[in-house]
Amino acid sequence: MKSRNWAALAAASGLALAAAGAFAQTVKIGFITSYSGLNGNLGPYMERGARLYLKEHQKELPPGVNIEFLIRDDTGPNPDKAKQLAQELIVRDKVNLLAGVIFTPNAMAIAPLATEAKVPFVIMNAGTAVITTRSPYIARLSFTLWQSCYPLGQWAAKKFKRVYTLVSDFGPGHDCEDAIVRATKESGGEVAGTVRVPLSNPDFVPYMQRVKDAKPDALAVFIPAGKTATAVLKAFGDLGLSKAGIKLIGPGDVTTDEELENMGEAALGVLTVHHYSAAATRPANQAFVAAWKRDYGANETPNFVAVGGWDGMAAIMHAVKEQKGKLDPDRTMELLKNFKDPNSPRGPISVDPATRDIVQNEYLREVRRVGGKLANVEIETVGTAVKDPWKELNKK
Ligand code: PHB
Repeated sequence: MKSRNWAALAAASGLALAAAGAFAQTVKIGFITSYSGLNGNLGPYMERGARLYLKEHQKELPPGVNIEFLIRDDTGPNPDKAKQLAQELIVRDKVNLLAGVIFTPNAMAIAPLATEAKVPFVIMNAGTAVITTRSPYIARLSFTLWQSCYPLGQWAAKKFKRVYTLVSDFGPGHDCEDAIVRATKESGGEVAGTVRVPLSNPDFVPYMQRVKDAKPDALAVFIPAGKTATAVLKAFGDLGLSKAGIKLIGPGDVTTDEELENMGEAALGVLTVHHYSAAATRPANQAFVAAWKRDYGANETPNFVAVGGWDGMAAIMHAVKEQKGKLDPDRTMELLKNFKDPNSPRGPISVDPATRDIVQNEYLREVRRVGGKLANVEIETVGTAVKDPWKELNKK
Protein backbone atom coordinates (compact mmCIF):
# COMPACT_ATOMS: atom_id res chain seq x y z
CA MET A 1 0.00 0.00 0.00
CA LYS A 2 1.18 3.51 -0.80
CA SER A 3 2.14 5.60 2.19
CA ARG A 4 -0.70 8.05 1.39
CA ASN A 5 -3.20 5.19 1.83
CA TRP A 6 -1.58 4.10 5.09
CA ALA A 7 -1.97 7.62 6.36
CA ALA A 8 -5.63 7.70 5.31
CA LEU A 9 -6.27 4.35 6.98
CA ALA A 10 -4.52 5.43 10.15
CA ALA A 11 -6.52 8.65 10.24
CA ALA A 12 -9.77 6.76 9.65
CA SER A 13 -9.07 4.18 12.36
CA GLY A 14 -8.04 6.99 14.69
CA LEU A 15 -11.40 8.58 14.08
CA ALA A 16 -13.11 5.26 14.66
CA LEU A 17 -11.27 4.83 17.95
CA ALA A 18 -12.16 8.34 19.00
CA ALA A 19 -15.79 7.67 18.17
CA ALA A 20 -15.72 4.39 20.10
CA GLY A 21 -14.13 6.27 22.97
CA ALA A 22 -16.94 8.77 22.93
CA PHE A 23 -19.45 5.95 23.24
CA ALA A 24 -17.69 3.86 25.87
CA GLN A 25 -16.30 5.85 28.72
CA THR A 26 -15.78 3.94 31.94
CA VAL A 27 -15.30 5.86 35.15
CA LYS A 28 -13.46 3.73 37.70
CA ILE A 29 -14.11 4.28 41.37
CA GLY A 30 -11.69 2.71 43.85
CA PHE A 31 -14.09 1.97 46.71
CA ILE A 32 -12.35 1.26 50.02
CA THR A 33 -14.48 0.35 53.02
CA SER A 34 -14.71 -2.12 55.92
CA TYR A 35 -16.22 -5.58 55.40
CA SER A 36 -14.31 -7.30 58.19
CA GLY A 37 -12.62 -6.49 61.48
CA LEU A 38 -14.07 -4.03 63.99
CA ASN A 39 -17.65 -3.16 62.98
CA GLY A 40 -17.15 -4.84 59.61
CA ASN A 41 -20.93 -4.79 59.16
CA LEU A 42 -20.72 -1.08 58.25
CA GLY A 43 -18.99 -1.40 54.86
CA PRO A 44 -21.92 -3.11 53.14
CA TYR A 45 -24.23 -0.22 54.15
CA MET A 46 -21.92 2.24 52.43
CA GLU A 47 -21.57 0.11 49.30
CA ARG A 48 -25.29 -0.58 49.06
CA GLY A 49 -26.06 3.14 49.53
CA ALA A 50 -23.72 4.08 46.66
CA ARG A 51 -24.98 1.30 44.38
CA LEU A 52 -28.60 2.18 45.08
CA TYR A 53 -27.99 5.82 44.10
CA LEU A 54 -26.34 4.68 40.88
CA LYS A 55 -29.20 2.30 40.09
CA GLU A 56 -31.88 4.93 40.70
CA HIS A 57 -30.03 7.55 38.61
CA GLN A 58 -28.27 5.43 35.97
CA LYS A 59 -30.41 6.85 33.18
CA GLU A 60 -29.06 10.36 33.83
CA LEU A 61 -25.55 9.30 32.74
CA PRO A 62 -24.48 10.61 29.33
CA PRO A 63 -24.76 7.94 26.58
CA GLY A 64 -21.93 5.41 26.69
CA VAL A 65 -20.70 6.42 30.12
CA ASN A 66 -20.37 3.56 32.62
CA ILE A 67 -19.39 3.58 36.25
CA GLU A 68 -17.35 0.70 37.61
CA PHE A 69 -16.74 0.07 41.31
CA LEU A 70 -13.49 -1.59 42.33
CA ILE A 71 -14.43 -2.73 45.84
CA ARG A 72 -11.73 -3.32 48.47
CA ASP A 73 -11.87 -4.36 52.16
CA ASP A 74 -9.58 -2.33 54.43
CA THR A 75 -10.38 -4.74 57.33
CA GLY A 76 -11.44 -2.06 59.85
CA PRO A 77 -9.30 0.66 61.40
CA ASN A 78 -6.08 -0.34 59.59
CA PRO A 79 -4.21 2.60 58.01
CA ASP A 80 -1.43 0.44 56.53
CA LYS A 81 -3.90 -1.75 54.70
CA ALA A 82 -5.92 1.26 53.52
CA LYS A 83 -2.79 2.91 52.17
CA GLN A 84 -1.69 -0.24 50.33
CA LEU A 85 -5.13 -0.64 48.74
CA ALA A 86 -5.26 3.01 47.66
CA GLN A 87 -1.76 2.72 46.18
CA GLU A 88 -2.75 -0.33 44.11
CA LEU A 89 -5.99 1.24 42.97
CA ILE A 90 -4.15 4.37 41.82
CA VAL A 91 -1.07 2.82 40.24
CA ARG A 92 -2.27 -0.52 38.89
CA ASP A 93 -5.98 -0.03 38.34
CA LYS A 94 -5.71 3.64 37.36
CA VAL A 95 -8.92 4.64 39.10
CA ASN A 96 -10.42 8.08 38.39
CA LEU A 97 -11.61 8.53 41.95
CA LEU A 98 -11.22 7.05 45.40
CA ALA A 99 -14.28 6.78 47.64
CA GLY A 100 -15.55 5.25 50.86
CA VAL A 101 -13.71 4.78 54.15
CA ILE A 102 -15.44 4.18 57.49
CA PHE A 103 -12.48 4.95 59.77
CA THR A 104 -10.52 8.17 60.30
CA PRO A 105 -7.02 6.61 60.53
CA ASN A 106 -7.58 5.03 57.10
CA ALA A 107 -8.70 8.32 55.56
CA MET A 108 -5.62 10.04 57.02
CA ALA A 109 -3.35 7.37 55.50
CA ILE A 110 -4.91 7.76 52.03
CA ALA A 111 -4.89 11.60 51.99
CA PRO A 112 -1.23 12.10 50.91
CA LEU A 113 -1.65 9.58 48.08
CA ALA A 114 -4.68 11.46 46.77
CA THR A 115 -2.60 14.65 46.73
CA GLU A 116 0.44 13.10 45.11
CA ALA A 117 -1.51 11.32 42.37
CA LYS A 118 -4.18 14.04 42.02
CA VAL A 119 -6.97 11.53 42.52
CA PRO A 120 -10.17 13.02 43.98
CA PHE A 121 -11.19 11.20 47.17
CA VAL A 122 -14.83 11.30 48.26
CA ILE A 123 -15.23 10.46 51.93
CA MET A 124 -18.50 8.72 52.76
CA ASN A 125 -18.04 8.26 56.52
CA ALA A 126 -14.78 9.08 58.41
CA GLY A 127 -15.68 12.11 60.56
CA THR A 128 -12.65 13.65 62.29
CA ALA A 129 -12.63 17.36 61.45
CA VAL A 130 -8.98 17.59 60.40
CA ILE A 131 -9.20 15.02 57.58
CA THR A 132 -10.25 17.44 54.83
CA THR A 133 -7.27 19.70 55.60
CA ARG A 134 -4.91 16.84 54.75
CA SER A 135 -5.48 16.98 50.98
CA PRO A 136 -7.03 19.46 48.53
CA TYR A 137 -8.31 16.38 46.67
CA ILE A 138 -10.67 15.35 49.48
CA ALA A 139 -14.39 16.19 49.59
CA ARG A 140 -16.47 14.86 52.47
CA LEU A 141 -20.14 13.94 51.99
CA SER A 142 -20.66 12.32 55.40
CA PHE A 143 -20.36 14.45 58.56
CA THR A 144 -17.92 15.65 61.19
CA LEU A 145 -18.25 14.73 64.86
CA TRP A 146 -18.15 18.44 65.68
CA GLN A 147 -21.32 18.89 63.60
CA SER A 148 -23.31 16.64 65.94
CA CYS A 149 -21.42 16.92 69.25
CA TYR A 150 -21.17 20.72 69.44
CA PRO A 151 -24.94 21.37 69.11
CA LEU A 152 -25.51 18.32 71.36
CA GLY A 153 -23.36 19.93 74.07
CA GLN A 154 -25.17 23.26 73.71
CA TRP A 155 -28.58 21.61 73.95
CA ALA A 156 -27.53 19.33 76.84
CA ALA A 157 -26.18 22.26 78.90
CA LYS A 158 -29.70 23.75 78.94
CA LYS A 159 -31.28 20.53 80.06
CA PHE A 160 -28.75 18.79 82.34
CA LYS A 161 -26.56 20.29 85.05
CA ARG A 162 -23.61 17.89 84.92
CA VAL A 163 -22.55 15.99 81.81
CA TYR A 164 -19.99 13.17 81.72
CA THR A 165 -18.36 12.15 78.41
CA LEU A 166 -17.19 8.66 77.39
CA VAL A 167 -15.53 8.32 73.98
CA SER A 168 -13.45 5.87 71.95
CA ASP A 169 -9.81 6.84 72.15
CA PHE A 170 -9.16 7.92 68.54
CA GLY A 171 -9.74 10.96 66.31
CA PRO A 172 -13.54 11.16 66.14
CA GLY A 173 -13.82 10.38 69.88
CA HIS A 174 -11.39 13.16 70.75
CA ASP A 175 -13.33 15.56 68.51
CA CYS A 176 -16.64 14.65 70.13
CA GLU A 177 -15.22 15.06 73.63
CA ASP A 178 -13.62 18.43 72.74
CA ALA A 179 -16.85 19.68 71.16
CA ILE A 180 -19.05 18.70 74.12
CA VAL A 181 -16.62 20.05 76.72
CA ARG A 182 -16.31 23.35 74.87
CA ALA A 183 -20.07 23.72 74.30
CA THR A 184 -20.81 22.80 77.93
CA LYS A 185 -18.39 25.39 79.31
CA GLU A 186 -19.53 28.09 76.88
CA SER A 187 -23.14 27.44 77.86
CA GLY A 188 -22.46 27.57 81.62
CA GLY A 189 -22.85 23.83 82.22
CA GLU A 190 -20.54 21.58 84.20
CA VAL A 191 -18.40 18.69 82.93
CA ALA A 192 -18.69 15.94 85.56
CA GLY A 193 -15.82 13.94 84.03
CA THR A 194 -14.34 12.62 80.80
CA VAL A 195 -13.07 9.15 79.99
CA ARG A 196 -11.56 7.61 76.86
CA VAL A 197 -11.90 3.89 76.17
CA PRO A 198 -9.89 1.68 73.79
CA LEU A 199 -11.24 1.60 70.24
CA SER A 200 -11.34 -2.19 69.87
CA ASN A 201 -13.67 -4.32 71.98
CA PRO A 202 -13.38 -2.59 75.35
CA ASP A 203 -15.19 -3.99 78.38
CA PHE A 204 -17.57 -1.12 79.07
CA VAL A 205 -18.61 -2.36 82.53
CA PRO A 206 -15.82 -0.78 84.64
CA TYR A 207 -16.18 2.52 82.75
CA MET A 208 -19.93 2.58 83.31
CA GLN A 209 -19.39 1.87 87.01
CA ARG A 210 -17.03 4.85 87.22
CA VAL A 211 -19.63 7.07 85.52
CA LYS A 212 -22.39 5.81 87.84
CA ASP A 213 -20.27 6.65 90.89
CA ALA A 214 -19.76 10.22 89.62
CA LYS A 215 -23.58 10.72 89.52
CA PRO A 216 -23.82 13.00 86.47
CA ASP A 217 -27.22 14.02 85.08
CA ALA A 218 -26.28 12.83 81.59
CA LEU A 219 -23.67 10.59 79.98
CA ALA A 220 -22.64 11.55 76.43
CA VAL A 221 -21.10 8.66 74.48
CA PHE A 222 -19.28 8.45 71.17
CA ILE A 223 -18.17 5.05 69.93
CA PRO A 224 -18.04 3.86 66.31
CA ALA A 225 -21.49 2.72 65.17
CA GLY A 226 -22.27 -0.95 64.66
CA LYS A 227 -21.81 -3.66 67.28
CA THR A 228 -19.82 -1.37 69.60
CA ALA A 229 -22.93 0.78 70.07
CA THR A 230 -24.93 -2.28 71.15
CA ALA A 231 -22.21 -3.21 73.68
CA VAL A 232 -22.46 0.30 75.19
CA LEU A 233 -26.24 0.10 75.49
CA LYS A 234 -26.00 -3.32 77.12
CA ALA A 235 -23.50 -2.17 79.79
CA PHE A 236 -25.50 1.02 80.39
CA GLY A 237 -28.66 -1.03 80.92
CA ASP A 238 -27.08 -3.85 82.96
CA LEU A 239 -25.42 -1.50 85.44
CA GLY A 240 -28.65 0.39 86.03
CA LEU A 241 -27.44 3.87 85.05
CA SER A 242 -30.83 4.75 83.72
CA LYS A 243 -32.50 3.75 87.02
CA ALA A 244 -29.87 5.85 88.82
CA GLY A 245 -31.25 8.89 86.95
CA ILE A 246 -28.48 9.23 84.34
CA LYS A 247 -29.70 10.06 80.83
CA LEU A 248 -27.79 8.54 77.91
CA ILE A 249 -27.13 11.06 75.13
CA GLY A 250 -24.70 11.25 72.20
CA PRO A 251 -24.18 11.77 68.51
CA GLY A 252 -26.35 9.34 66.48
CA ASP A 253 -23.59 6.72 66.26
CA VAL A 254 -24.65 5.35 69.67
CA THR A 255 -28.21 4.58 68.47
CA THR A 256 -27.28 3.64 64.90
CA ASP A 257 -30.48 2.62 63.10
CA GLU A 258 -29.40 -0.88 62.03
CA GLU A 259 -28.60 -1.97 65.61
CA LEU A 260 -31.70 -0.64 67.42
CA GLU A 261 -33.49 -3.98 67.44
CA ASN A 262 -30.39 -5.68 68.92
CA MET A 263 -30.21 -3.01 71.64
CA GLY A 264 -33.76 -3.62 72.79
CA GLU A 265 -35.44 -1.82 75.70
CA ALA A 266 -32.20 -0.21 76.91
CA ALA A 267 -32.27 2.09 73.88
CA LEU A 268 -35.74 3.53 74.63
CA GLY A 269 -35.55 7.22 75.51
CA VAL A 270 -31.91 7.71 74.45
CA LEU A 271 -31.51 11.25 73.08
CA THR A 272 -29.10 11.94 70.24
CA VAL A 273 -28.20 14.67 67.77
CA HIS A 274 -27.47 13.56 64.21
CA HIS A 275 -27.96 14.37 60.54
CA TYR A 276 -29.82 11.20 59.54
CA SER A 277 -32.53 8.91 60.83
CA ALA A 278 -34.22 6.12 58.86
CA ALA A 279 -37.44 7.17 60.66
CA ALA A 280 -37.38 10.73 59.24
CA THR A 281 -40.65 11.57 57.49
CA ARG A 282 -39.21 13.77 54.70
CA PRO A 283 -40.58 12.42 51.39
CA ALA A 284 -37.04 12.04 49.98
CA ASN A 285 -36.15 9.87 52.97
CA GLN A 286 -39.29 7.78 52.71
CA ALA A 287 -38.52 7.15 49.04
CA PHE A 288 -34.92 6.22 49.94
CA VAL A 289 -36.00 3.80 52.69
CA ALA A 290 -38.63 2.24 50.38
CA ALA A 291 -36.05 1.70 47.59
CA TRP A 292 -33.69 0.18 50.18
CA LYS A 293 -36.30 -2.27 51.41
CA ARG A 294 -37.38 -3.13 47.86
CA ASP A 295 -33.81 -4.03 46.85
CA TYR A 296 -32.28 -5.35 50.06
CA GLY A 297 -35.23 -6.83 51.97
CA ALA A 298 -38.24 -5.66 53.98
CA ASN A 299 -36.38 -6.09 57.28
CA GLU A 300 -33.34 -4.07 56.17
CA THR A 301 -32.95 -0.50 57.45
CA PRO A 302 -30.48 2.02 56.03
CA ASN A 303 -28.31 3.86 58.56
CA PHE A 304 -26.21 7.05 58.38
CA VAL A 305 -23.37 5.12 56.70
CA ALA A 306 -25.82 4.13 53.93
CA VAL A 307 -26.84 7.75 53.38
CA GLY A 308 -23.13 8.70 53.30
CA GLY A 309 -22.73 6.24 50.41
CA TRP A 310 -25.86 7.59 48.70
CA ASP A 311 -24.93 11.28 48.94
CA GLY A 312 -21.27 10.60 48.15
CA MET A 313 -22.39 8.85 44.99
CA ALA A 314 -24.74 11.73 44.16
CA ALA A 315 -21.76 14.12 44.26
CA ILE A 316 -19.67 11.77 42.11
CA MET A 317 -22.49 11.40 39.56
CA HIS A 318 -22.73 15.19 39.35
CA ALA A 319 -19.01 15.41 38.47
CA VAL A 320 -19.32 12.55 35.96
CA LYS A 321 -22.36 14.03 34.21
CA GLU A 322 -20.90 17.53 33.98
CA GLN A 323 -17.73 16.17 32.35
CA LYS A 324 -19.53 13.59 30.18
CA GLY A 325 -17.50 10.83 31.77
CA LYS A 326 -14.04 12.28 30.94
CA LEU A 327 -12.77 13.20 34.36
CA ASP A 328 -10.15 15.86 34.96
CA PRO A 329 -9.07 15.83 38.62
CA ASP A 330 -9.09 19.59 39.16
CA ARG A 331 -12.40 20.11 37.37
CA THR A 332 -13.81 17.18 39.39
CA MET A 333 -12.77 18.91 42.62
CA GLU A 334 -14.40 22.17 41.46
CA LEU A 335 -17.64 20.30 40.81
CA LEU A 336 -17.50 18.38 44.12
CA LYS A 337 -16.79 21.61 46.03
CA ASN A 338 -19.91 23.24 44.62
CA PHE A 339 -22.22 20.23 44.88
CA LYS A 340 -25.68 20.85 46.34
CA ASP A 341 -28.75 18.70 46.83
CA PRO A 342 -31.80 20.42 48.31
CA ASN A 343 -33.49 17.06 48.58
CA SER A 344 -31.19 14.45 50.13
CA PRO A 345 -32.81 11.82 52.39
CA ARG A 346 -31.19 13.74 55.27
CA GLY A 347 -32.61 17.13 54.16
CA PRO A 348 -30.87 19.90 52.19
CA ILE A 349 -27.11 19.41 51.82
CA SER A 350 -24.25 21.24 50.13
CA VAL A 351 -20.47 21.18 50.16
CA ASP A 352 -18.71 24.21 51.63
CA PRO A 353 -16.31 25.22 48.83
CA ALA A 354 -13.90 26.72 51.37
CA THR A 355 -13.42 23.49 53.37
CA ARG A 356 -14.81 20.75 51.07
CA ASP A 357 -16.91 19.54 54.02
CA ILE A 358 -20.62 18.86 53.93
CA VAL A 359 -23.08 21.47 55.23
CA GLN A 360 -26.25 19.93 56.68
CA ASN A 361 -29.00 20.08 59.31
CA GLU A 362 -28.68 18.44 62.70
CA TYR A 363 -31.73 16.91 64.36
CA LEU A 364 -32.50 16.08 67.98
CA ARG A 365 -33.94 12.55 68.10
CA GLU A 366 -35.34 10.21 70.70
CA VAL A 367 -35.51 6.42 70.51
CA ARG A 368 -39.18 5.49 70.63
CA ARG A 369 -41.29 2.55 69.60
CA VAL A 370 -42.99 3.23 66.27
CA GLY A 371 -45.29 0.54 64.86
CA GLY A 372 -43.72 -2.04 67.21
CA LYS A 373 -40.12 -1.20 66.18
CA LEU A 374 -37.49 1.00 67.80
CA ALA A 375 -36.77 4.16 65.81
CA ASN A 376 -34.78 7.39 66.10
CA VAL A 377 -37.70 9.81 65.97
CA GLU A 378 -36.69 13.33 64.92
CA ILE A 379 -38.11 15.82 67.41
CA GLU A 380 -36.49 19.11 66.53
CA THR A 381 -33.96 20.66 64.13
CA VAL A 382 -31.21 21.95 66.44
CA GLY A 383 -28.97 23.24 63.67
CA THR A 384 -29.76 24.40 60.13
CA ALA A 385 -27.09 24.34 57.39
CA VAL A 386 -24.40 23.52 59.96
CA LYS A 387 -20.81 23.92 58.72
CA ASP A 388 -18.08 21.98 60.53
CA PRO A 389 -17.91 23.99 63.79
CA TRP A 390 -14.27 23.07 64.42
CA LYS A 391 -13.25 24.86 61.21
CA GLU A 392 -15.59 27.78 61.93
CA LEU A 393 -14.15 28.21 65.46
CA ASN A 394 -10.53 27.89 64.32
CA LYS A 395 -10.68 30.21 61.30
CA LYS A 396 -7.52 32.23 60.94
C1 PHB B 1 -14.39 7.52 62.12
O1 PHB B 1 -13.43 6.75 62.22
O2 PHB B 1 -14.22 8.69 61.73
C2 PHB B 1 -15.74 7.05 62.51
C3 PHB B 1 -16.02 5.69 62.62
C4 PHB B 1 -17.30 5.27 63.01
C5 PHB B 1 -18.28 6.21 63.27
C6 PHB B 1 -18.02 7.57 63.14
C7 PHB B 1 -16.74 7.99 62.75
O3 PHB B 1 -19.50 5.82 63.70
